[in-house]
Amino acid sequence: MAEVLVIGATGTTGSRVAAFLRGRGVPLRAASRTEGLAGHVRFDWADPKTHAPALSGVSAVYLVAPIGVAEPAPLVATFLAAAADQGVRRVVLLGSSAVPEGPTGMGALYRLVRTGMPEWTVLRPSWFAQNFTGGALALRARGGELLSATGEGRVAFIDAADIAAVAARALIDEPPHDTEHILTGPKPLSYAEVAEIVARHTGRPLRHRTVGADELARHFTAHGLPPDFAATLAELDTRIAAGSEDRVTDTVERLTGRPARTFREVYPAVS
Ligand SMILES: NC(=O)c1ccc[n+]([C@@H]2O[C@H](COP(=O)([O-])OP(=O)(O)OC[C@H]3O[C@@H](n4cnc5c(N)ncnc54)[C@H](OP(=O)(O)O)[C@@H]3O)[C@@H](O)[C@H]2O)c1
Repeated sequence: MAEVLVIGATGTTGSRVAAFLRGRGVPLRAASRTEGLAGHVRFDWADPKTHAPALSGVSAVYLVAPIGVAEPAPLVATFLAAAADQGVRRVVLLGSSAVPEGPTGMGALYRLVRTGMPEWTVLRPSWFAQNFTGGALALRARGGELLSATGEGRVAFIDAADIAAVAARALIDEPPHDTEHILTGPKPLSYAEVAEIVARHTGRPLRHRTVGADELARHFTAHGLPPDFAATLAELDTRIAAGSEDRVTDTVERLTGRPARTFREVYPAVS
């Protein structure tokens, strides 16, 4: 039976997509750049020799695009052509609610999957609730402060498990979705509210501080992000400040049959 290739299977959404499919007995090929990782096939966007072996015998792909590559379209177009050659019919692409279809960057990938594959879905999730744990939280932390350039702007943060549940439906439902899904959590929150909820969860003080986009970009760069990516990310915060992510969709509930998880459910308060 043909397998589903999950790119980014060790990552935030891919690991959850893989777990979801495994739990339902769907034949799975989990991919990672790490050589010899148990239960994984080696796949590296930067090493095209790994693409064809990863695609052999595959019917559908969960596609997490190359990360940190400013213009991923050429790489992804070559990959999709190889996939179609090998008989892959369906691709589910992880996009972003913050990035509409367009001629450049991640937005250019939406048209590629829409026009290049017989069956396709573009997932455009809001910002991940998981951005406030581990290294992702460290990227925005300064002392006991959570930095953003979002001001009072609100985001309907989404649990990565909800993205994965929708991705799995798009991968295995008999009729292809052949559409773009905007995915959000159930309630928009400001970064000040987020800081308060995360502080109650960890038991450690955390307070939101609004900074300018330039200062935020410098902070991201100091924490290892390439300067152009840091600037892009900081710029997205200013769009949030202007209300770009202050919206809720019912897509998770419509497609999974249960409501999207709240931010407080992801970060329950410690008593
Ligand atoms: N964070 C958000 O709020 C948010 C919101 C909307 C959309 N997104 C989108 O979500 C995507 C992933 O974001 P994330 O930060 O959460 O990352 P992630 O999924 O946690 O980690 C990246 C994954 O990609 C794999 N990977 C990295 N470089 C690779 C390469 N060269 N070739 C093959 N695999 C590679 C890594 O696996 P190995 O290390 O095992 O190879 C890892 O599993 C991005 O496209 C981002 O735009 C994020």
